[in-house]
Amino acid sequence: MFTKEISVLASLKFPKIGIEMLKDAGFIVTEWTERRPMTPEELIKNAQKHNALFSASSDKLDENFLRSCSHLDLISQFSVGYDNIDLGVAKELNIPFGNAPGAMVNATSDVAFGLMISVSRKMFHMHKLIEQSNWKFFHPEDHLGQELYGKTLGVFGLGKIGMEMARKCKSAFGMDVIYCNRNPNKAAQGKLAAELVSFPDLLKRSDVLSVHCPLNDETRGLFDFSAFKKMKSSSIFINTSRGGVHNEEDLILALEKKMIWGAGLDVTDPEPMSPDNPLLKMESACVLPHIGSATVEARNRMSEYAAKNIIEYYKTGQVAFPVS
Ligand code: 8YV
Repeated sequence: MFTKEISVLASLKFPKIGIEMLKDAGFIVTEWTERRPMTPEELIKNAQKHNALFSASSDKLDENFLRSCSHLDLISQFSVGYDNIDLGVAKELNIPFGNAPGAMVNATSDVAFGLMISVSRKMFHMHKLIEQSNWKFFHPEDHLGQELYGKTLGVFGLGKIGMEMARKCKSAFGMDVIYCNRNPNKAAQGKLAAELVSFPDLLKRSDVLSVHCPLNDETRGLFDFSAFKKMKSSSIFINTSRGGVHNEEDLILALEKKMIWGAGLDVTDPEPMSPDNPLLKMESACVLPHIGSATVEARNRMSEYAAKNIIEYYKTGQVAFPVS
């Protein structure tokens, strides 16, 4: 297909569907097969020997990396989030960047939905009680959770994943949907009767507040002590986007002071979370190790989309799913 050999570095061992697509299209693919990510130095050294990079969101694509690898034709990432790349520098160096939007809509909204129910019934804590031999007798007032029927779901960042979370909550529990977005989401307003509200109103009115926004300068640390203080004491905070959107110390304090009912997190800051983190011992918290997209279906789609970016770029000069 190509007049010269084009090589792609896959920074981890990604699902083979995308790698096979690349090989079938004539690319030479080098896979990093170790069960650890490359160090930043290894990533630079290896990327320097390739034309394109198939990256993961755990790769640090900062200014140093980009300037050291300015020869790259493009970078295609196996994720929807892209807070790991300095897009300004990539643009300055003319390195197109593509991601895998929409590939994990079902999988990640499932995790948000599951965390919401788990927190409302303190499921992770109940499991620990049995492990600790603390399931001794029945008492009518022990272990009480709360029901979600007819409650209000607040979505911060109503994109594809937030919309699917809202659809699930509305169908399963008849929840009312309010949301806070930069732009109104007409589809959600129609199909889900979702109401666009201000950030203070989202905090004040949500019974469950689910975060689905990207991490950027506007959203970093947005859910801090002052935000939790404005939420209902019966409310549940869910974050399946990026750990940096909430301030973890403030969240711990808010839970300790019972300013909110509980929190369900699939993302933490930093990742991996330390096993000593107080959140892991709290009755009101449910924490998962960033498994939002961890289904066979989603990971295969992510691999396909990332491969498609590379194939399209060399065919047309444009990545299939550009991020600018
Ligand atoms: C991945 C994600 O686990 O797509 C994203 O933004 O956070 C997850 O799907 C991870 O980022 C893979 O690179």
